Amino acid sequence: MKGIILHGGRGTRLGPLTHTGPKQLIPVANKPISHYVLEDLRDSGVTDIAIVVGDIYPEKVKNYYGDGNRFDVKIKYVYQEQPKGIAHAIGKCREFVGEGEPFVVYLGDNLLKGGIKKFVKSFKESDLEGMILLCKVKNPERFGVAKFDKKGNLVQLIEKPKKPPSGYALTGIYFFRPKIFEMIEQLKPSWRGELEITEAIQLLLDQRRPVGHKFVEEWWKDTGTYEDILDANRLVLEELKPEVKGKVEDKRSIRGKVHVEGGAQVKRGAKIQGPAVIGRNSVVGENARIGPYTSVGDKVTIKRGEIENSIIMEHCLIDVREKIRNSIVGAYSEITSVGVGKPRGRTFIVGEKSHLML
Ligand code: G1P
Repeated sequence: MKGIILHGGRGTRLGPLTHTGPKQLIPVANKPISHYVLEDLRDSGVTDIAIVVGDIYPEKVKNYYGDGNRFDVKIKYVYQEQPKGIAHAIGKCREFVGEGEPFVVYLGDNLLKGGIKKFVKSFKESDLEGMILLCKVKNPERFGVAKFDKKGNLVQLIEKPKKPPSGYALTGIYFFRPKIFEMIEQLKPSWRGELEITEAIQLLLDQRRPVGHKFVEEWWKDTGTYEDILDANRLVLEELKPEVKGKVEDKRSIRGKVHVEGGAQVKRGAKIQGPAVIGRNSVVGENARIGPYTSVGDKVTIKRGEIENSIIMEHCLIDVREKIRNSIVGAYSEITSVGVGKPRGRTFIVGEKSHLML
């Protein structure tokens, strides 16, 4: 079975973070979201992988994943010059897939607890032309939604319906056999100007071709917004195995599930409340309070300040009297306090190379 990771799209809802890189490389718990996707494929035995890159810094994706050797997989890159939709991106992989082979498409901004291993196995063993994974959500109108008849058969898929026929959203994980390429060829751009994979699967259903569906029981997350990214960060941190590789001067500094990477230093007096992760070669100063639900990237200095439910990317400097919460701070940013006064809580969404003085 081959794998396709979709790594294109403009990520407009995630600016300014997507001004300097594709959304799928935004880290949660110090690893790009698409890295979890790649690991899930690999751990499910899918090692022949195409990554479809778009026009937002495709070289950053190539620099990170290379030929896949570092991750024990084989990677090919496919270019999608313009963001014309998921089906368009899949259509570009026809040559990569070849004849007869089943394949799995995984959106690079989707996270699934428990992974796809069992679904890979069941699709391989089936004669299905397509199989979708469905998840019960509170806001189905944001997704592709499944409609069932009274007997529970899947009868229709509707993209972003105003009146959702069920609470079951299509996750961004799809299983196909090459028949789908013929359906994609017949598609016309939708109201949002994209070739919708939802409509291509609908064509399979209309032609009474075998399409299966499975339900995902644990959490699934599509990381389209800041809130989603912070949610994903929390969910992944919850699963974290505590481990201290770096230097913690006083063990009492650490409470709960905390991961301290090699070369990191936690000074005496600092407090870290897990779940939290501190990246390689980062320094947490004596007046720093971190967590819960906080990811501090590599080579970050937290001199002073409280940080809760946030992502601080690599090479940042934080030295504040304030409390930072619910925030995402891009790499190479500095947030420092000036003057005196009563500290207050504030929320930041900050891109790379920013300087904030408060
Ligand atoms: C896409 C699909 C949608 C699916 C979602 C899952 O939506 O079109 O059917 O539910 O991915 O992440 P988009 O992210 O393009 O809005």
